[in-house]
Amino acid sequence: MTDYATITIDGVEHQFPLVTGSEGERAIDISTLRSTTGVVTLDDGYANTGAAQSAITFIDGDKGILRYRGVPIEDLAKHSSFIETAELLIWGELPDPAQRDRFRQMLSDQAPLHRDMRKHFDGFPSDAHPMAIQSAMINAIQAYDLPEIHISDDPTFERAAAALIAKTRTIAAAAYKSHIGQPMVYPRHDLNYVENFLHMMFSVPYRPYEATPEVAHALNMFLVLHADHEQNCSTSTVRMVASSGANLFTAVSAGVNALWGPLHGGANMAVIDMLEDIRDSGTSPQSYVDKAKDRNSGVRLMGFGHRVYRNFDPRAKILKEAADDLLNKVKVTDPLLDIAREVEAAALADDYFVERKLYPNVDFYSGIILRAIGIPLDMFTVMFAIGRTPGWIAHWKEVHDNAAQRIHRPRQVYVGPTLTEWVPRPDRKDKRKKR
Ligand code: SDX
Repeated sequence: MTDYATITIDGVEHQFPLVTGSEGERAIDISTLRSTTGVVTLDDGYANTGAAQSAITFIDGDKGILRYRGVPIEDLAKHSSFIETAELLIWGELPDPAQRDRFRQMLSDQAPLHRDMRKHFDGFPSDAHPMAIQSAMINAIQAYDLPEIHISDDPTFERAAAALIAKTRTIAAAAYKSHIGQPMVYPRHDLNYVENFLHMMFSVPYRPYEATPEVAHALNMFLVLHADHEQNCSTSTVRMVASSGANLFTAVSAGVNALWGPLHGGANMAVIDMLEDIRDSGTSPQSYVDKAKDRNSGVRLMGFGHRVYRNFDPRAKILKEAADDLLNKVKVTDPLLDIAREVEAAALADDYFVERKLYPNVDFYSGIILRAIGIPLDMFTVMFAIGRTPGWIAHWKEVHDNAAQRIHRPRQVYVGPTLTEWVPRPDRKDKRKKR
């Protein structure tokens, strides 16, 4: 194998080094392309473009492999807590007991919101989308001038990471309580991360909520499975914002907004809408799958397909089993799970999906688990954001710690009007294309 690539432009050969990653992935380093050839690359949606060399998460889309800092997702889903997984992603190692206890104490200390922050929730309309509140309130944290905003050393970063992971959960629960007209519930010192979230979501002054082990285990697994996924749309957004030198809270708030899109984190809500539509319309799963194959139908099989996975998304496999397990344990039946199974079976038997290597992704079964826990549909993408927060922090840190990091500033190929004369106002004709 050669360690360079040759590009010939106008008969002139140019060589560029090949970079090989720790798992054997190869990339052409084109950092001198424009200066040596005058041309740039063009790659719509960045499907062929590596934005960075990263040591956080590895995905092999053909083999359906996902590892956080080398640790297989299957092991973490089975054995790890969400906070331990967060520390693995952020600092690169599974924490020892002393590190674990210190971070747990920080999370507990950082869990409450500033008293004045709580007033913001009264200003949002009761039907405000929780993702709008989530990104606004994460950004608002820095208005209260937490000393952790200005990260100058490791201890400050550790406290900032704890503040963000703790407060993103408190904000989500507070937004829910505000939405349903119930008093906000303070976090408790004696509960772990997941139990505390469920306590803040579902306790009321006259009746505390105690999470059952099954429910806490299912939500912990959900968060572990969502914790990172290398250079996905929202994480790339966080890295882009981090590259300008913006602080951690601003960057993560931008990540929340990118995650909201229905093609990304918003898909977990869209899957449930799709399954309910099939249930309520009496459409058969097969006919819905058939409609999703027709580009002109405007219908997509939500929760199916992935830019990287051309095999099963390993998270979908784990979530499918976990959904089944949880429903059996909480003795709940959910017709949407049966419909989801029928949709999956119909799609996986259909050449359209098989040829395009479209398989269930992380969003296809995750909503069944959230429904069984009692999380309302409009909070599903917020749950994804809570899960993804450690990954966003890890990637912000990777950009922030890289002394050679440059601000992200892609080039383009201009296809607009060439030189155009200024036309005095009286001489202008309405040439704007009718939309
Ligand atoms: C997440 O990147 C990440 O890692 C994201 C994520 C993470 O953890 O961060 O994994 C989380 O965002 C998962 C994806 C959630 N989104 C959905 O479930 C929405 C439904 N899926 C699609 O919209 C789509 O599959 C994407 C957005 C996920 C991927 O889009 P691509 O890679 O741009 O694929 P494409 O649109 O170019 O599709 C290729 C072909 C097209 O058909 P042809 O033009 O070849 O005829 O596959 C078809 C598409 O029409 N296709 C689908 C389809 N997904 C792709 N057809 C029907 N239903 C679908 N879901």
